[in-house]
Amino acid sequence: MSTTAFAAALSLVVMAAISLTASAESTASTAEEATDATTREDAFRYGGDPERGAEMAKLCTSCHGYQGRSVTSRYPSIAGMDETRFVEGMRELRAGDRGHRMASMTRGLTDQDIADLAAYYSRLEAPDGP
Ligand code: HEC
Repeated sequence: MSTTAFAAALSLVVMAAISLTASAESTASTAEEATDATTREDAFRYGGDPERGAEMAKLCTSCHGYQGRSVTSRYPSIAGMDETRFVEGMRELRAGDRGHRMASMTRGLTDQDIADLAAYYSRLEAPDGP
């Protein structure tokens, strides 16, 4: 291989590496934008903090399953629930309108607690099953 051909081949490799890096960066920024949009549109509709919700969610696992995926038809799965439905459902249950087993669970929760739980659960992927 002549020096010129080698130099040409090397510059091709370098260019390919640069364009790979560039496309990796643009993929990363698209993913970031998508996360930001999700956060704005869903997680903060009620000013909830999903990190705090994740901590409190330990109270719910015994019935609603790990990450809100219920393993029994006795309890609904709550992963991926619409945030508004979640918040309104919890407030109704807290008011004692329906669901006695949840009424005792929700009694001690503040609106902020419910918002935090809603922020956490609504961002989880909904299960295929029950
Ligand atoms: C003792 C078992 C139990 C525990 C613990 C429990 N739940 Fe429930 N949950 C239920 C049952 C049963 C229902 C169905 C109530 C009904 O609609 O009659 C329900 C319903 C719900 C619903 C409404 C679902 C819908 O489709 O409307 C939400 C939201 C919910 N629970 C969230 C939570 C959260 C958040 C926690 C933790 C703070 C929690 N639950 C802890 C038993 C439980």
